[in-house]
Amino acid sequence: MSAKKPSNPAPIGLGIAGLGMAGAVMVQAAAVHEGYMLKAAADPHAGPREAFARDFNARAYADVAELVADPAVEVVYVATPHQFHAPHAILAAERGKHVILEKPMALTLAECEAIIAAAERNKVQLIVGHTHAYDPAIRVMHKLIASGALGKLGMINSFNYTNFLYRPRRPEELDTSLGGGILFNQVPHQIDIARLLGGGLVKCVRAQANALDRPRPTEGSCVAFLQFENGAAASLVYSGHDHFDSDEWYDWINERGAPKEPAHGSARRALKQSKDEARARTETYAYGAASAGMPPHQPHFGQTIATCANGDLRTSANGLMQYDISGASEIKIERGEGMPGRREVLDDMGAALRYGRPPVHDGRWGKATVEVALAILQSAREQREIALHHQVPVPEERT
Ligand SMILES: NC(=O)c1ccc[n+]([C@@H]2O[C@H](COP(=O)([O-])OP(=O)(O)OC[C@H]3O[C@@H](n4cnc5c(N)ncnc54)[C@H](O)[C@@H]3O)[C@@H](O)[C@H]2O)c1
Repeated sequence: MSAKKPSNPAPIGLGIAGLGMAGAVMVQAAAVHEGYMLKAAADPHAGPREAFARDFNARAYADVAELVADPAVEVVYVATPHQFHAPHAILAAERGKHVILEKPMALTLAECEAIIAAAERNKVQLIVGHTHAYDPAIRVMHKLIASGALGKLGMINSFNYTNFLYRPRRPEELDTSLGGGILFNQVPHQIDIARLLGGGLVKCVRAQANALDRPRPTEGSCVAFLQFENGAAASLVYSGHDHFDSDEWYDWINERGAPKEPAHGSARRALKQSKDEARARTETYAYGAASAGMPPHQPHFGQTIATCANGDLRTSANGLMQYDISGASEIKIERGEGMPGRREVLDDMGAALRYGRPPVHDGRWGKATVEVALAILQSAREQREIALHHQVPVPEERT
C-alpha cells in the first residue's frame, strides 16, 4: 500500500551504491516515484556510471565513500555484492545517511549486529529490502491471514525453480564461504515471505541443500522445513539448476511480473558459449546495458500458497487466488503506478522519515531472516534440526 503523501513534500534525495542488476531496477523504480529524486550513484565500472550520470543529470562516483559524503544524498540504497553490504551500510550510517540495504542483510549475525548498532548510533533509518515479501500480493495475503478471515494458518508452501546458478557469475558467487549460492541470494526471499505470513517467529529449521554441479561448487537447490512458534509451518523449495522453470506454472510471467518466453536450459547453453563469465555478468545486467519496460503484472517469487482452516490463498499473475467452500475466486490487486515491490520499499522509507512509522523490515527483522538462512545451511551440513534465537515478530499494529 502506498504511503499517503503530504502536500508537496520535498522529494527525498536518493543515492544508489552499485549500479548492477538490482541497482538498475531500483533506479527504474525511483525514477518514477514522486517521493524521490535520484541524486547520485557509485560503481567502480565506468559504463554504468556514465549511463546513470547522463540519464539523470546526476553525480556518479567510483567509490561509495564519495557517494555517502554527497550532501544531496539523504538515503543510500546499498546494492553492491553481498560481501560489501555490511561495510557500505555502516559507511552510509556513519555519514548520517538512511539506508535501504539489499538482501541478504549481511553474511554473518555479527555483521548484522554491527549494522544495527551503526544505524542506532547515528539515528538513521534502516530498511532491509527489497525482498519479495514487499510484493503487493504477499502483503495482501499477509493482511488476509492476519485478519483471521480464513481461520487459523496451518502452513505456507513456497516453491521456485529458476536458472539462478547458470546466470553469469563472479567467482565469489559460486563460493558459499564468501556468500555465494542460493542460501544467501535467493532463499532469503522465501524466508522473508514465510516469516511475514507466519508471524515472524521461526522456532527451528531442518533442511537439505545440494551442490550438484562440481564446476559450480555452491548450493544450487534446497528444501527446508520451518516450524513457527505459533504452530504454523513452512516448506521452502528452491532450485536454480536451469532445468525445470516454475514460471511454466505461472502463466509464463517472470519474477518481475513481465511476460517471458519458455527458455528451459537456455542459461546453461549461453554459459557454454561464454568466454569470460565475470565480464558477461557486468555487461548483461549493469545499469544501461539493457532497458526493461514496466512489467504489466504483479511480481512474484514462484508459487506461494498459504493453507488456513477455511481456505487456501495462492499468489497469481494479477493478485491472489482464494480457494474455499464456495470454489475458486480471484482477488485482483491493482497494479498501480511505478514498480510494484520496489515502490513499497521506497514508500516504507518515506513513511519512516516523514511520519516516524517504523518499517517491519528493519535491522532486527533482516538479521532474523539471515539467521534462518544460516540455520538452513547448518542443518544441511550437520543433518539435524537447528533451533533459532534471534527471531522477531511482525509488529502487532501490522497484523
Ligand atoms: N531484491 C532483489 O530482487 C535483488 C535482485 C538482484 C540482486 N539483489 C541483490 O543486490 C545485490 C547486487 O546484486 P546484483 O545482482 O545487482 O549484482 P551485480 O553484480 O549485477 O551488481 C553489483 C554492482 O555493484 C558494483 N560494485 C562492486 N563493488 C563495488 C564497490 N566496492 N562499490 C560500489 N559498487 C560496487 C558492481 O560493479 C556492480 O555494478 C546483491 O546483494 C543481491 O543479493 C537483489
